[in-house]
Amino acid sequence: MKIGIDKIGFYTPNMYVETENLAKARHIDPGKFTIGIGQEKMAVTPITQDAVSLAANAALEILTAEDKKAIDYVIFATESGIDHSKAASIYIHELLDLEPNVRSIEVKQACYSATAGIQIAKGHIALNPESKVLILGADISRYGLETSGEVTQGAGAVAMVVSADPKIMTIESPSVYQTEDVMDFWRPLHSDTAFVQGKYSVDQYIKFFQNLYYAHHDKTNIGLSDLDAILFHLPYTKMGMKALKSVVEEANEADRERLLANFDISKRYNAIVGNIYTGSLYLSLISLLELNTTIEAGSRIGLFSYGSGAVGEFFTGILQPNYREALYKEKHDNMLDNRTEVSVEAYEKTFQDTIPSGTENIELPIEQDPATICFAGIKDHMRQYVNKN
Ligand code: HMG
Repeated sequence: MKIGIDKIGFYTPNMYVETENLAKARHIDPGKFTIGIGQEKMAVTPITQDAVSLAANAALEILTAEDKKAIDYVIFATESGIDHSKAASIYIHELLDLEPNVRSIEVKQACYSATAGIQIAKGHIALNPESKVLILGADISRYGLETSGEVTQGAGAVAMVVSADPKIMTIESPSVYQTEDVMDFWRPLHSDTAFVQGKYSVDQYIKFFQNLYYAHHDKTNIGLSDLDAILFHLPYTKMGMKALKSVVEEANEADRERLLANFDISKRYNAIVGNIYTGSLYLSLISLLELNTTIEAGSRIGLFSYGSGAVGEFFTGILQPNYREALYKEKHDNMLDNRTEVSVEAYEKTFQDTIPSGTENIELPIEQDPATICFAGIKDHMRQYVNKN
């Protein structure tokens, strides 16, 4: 049975800051951010968006009434959770008006967990071919003002429907995965910003990619010449480029050029949104599928998923006939074109505008946020969401 991605969409907040302006404000040569790190714009998140509302906005655009009837599993991948106990997927279930007979969970392992969601979904659909699984990867990446990770922040969500006979891409077996206890990046319960050993995290990422790519090759005999593109979790676009270069060095010229050219297309959305953690690899997939003009159905794509801590996985997918017809390119173009640029001062103010922990009641200015679904505040310690439609 063919199982894979039937639908895929994303949402990012309505504001961004130019990384060139951020560099100037930090007295850094802008080339470091735009070329050395490879990021052009960084999403800025209003107080009226959190992981739940970002994910709900991403899912809203892709689900039809027919999908809603068939979805019997919602898997919410995030490291920006809003509750220690209740799964974020339950809020999504309510906001999107899904059927009652749904299994609904939140999964966590840094940026890796949406991939875990896809593999869980694959097993579920193998046993229940009629069902569809909704997978959400939503995060707000926060390192803090004036930190070396600051330029690698971002925010957004990817929503995917996984089903049998998918319209976009089948997920092949076997995939190859790995776990190792490393402290490259983590966020203790008391902190709303990440702790990171930056250079160490870069080394771990490269090490995981090389291990997994070669282990996958040994297991499947799929090599660079069998892949039309290799996609990466992109904490910043230069990171994926470094990893790719480490395996294409010895490839023949045609393979090297094809993989580098397609990587260039796959990083474009990430370069103007930033790190969206769990959704990052899949944002890169959307970027490749929506912006390439030459990749045909039947092409094989490699995907490298990495979540600090750390877990990684390398797997492949095959693009399906007419996959372009199942994409939402125009909607995404409009969303990205209609964002508002904000100054570094405005970004700093928004960054610091957080709700103190323990707040019992608060109403938030949702009229200032053009998003359809907003985080409207807290009432008796219960988070409130509004669907403006
Ligand atoms: P840094 O140490 O300030 O930067 O922070 P740098 O000194 O390494 O410079 C970066 C690059 O810019 C270098 O190029 C410089 O040469 C270049 P490279 O050697 O890498 O090729 N450069 C310039 N280029 C052009 N013009 C110039 C110029 N100046 C310098 N004028 C660091 C970099 C990534 C460490 C930092 O941003 C950071 O800590 N980021 C957060 C951690 C991170 O993203 N790690 C990635 C791997 S871990 C991961 O992916 C998981 C994660 O997503 C979390 C999760 O799983 O949940 C993070």
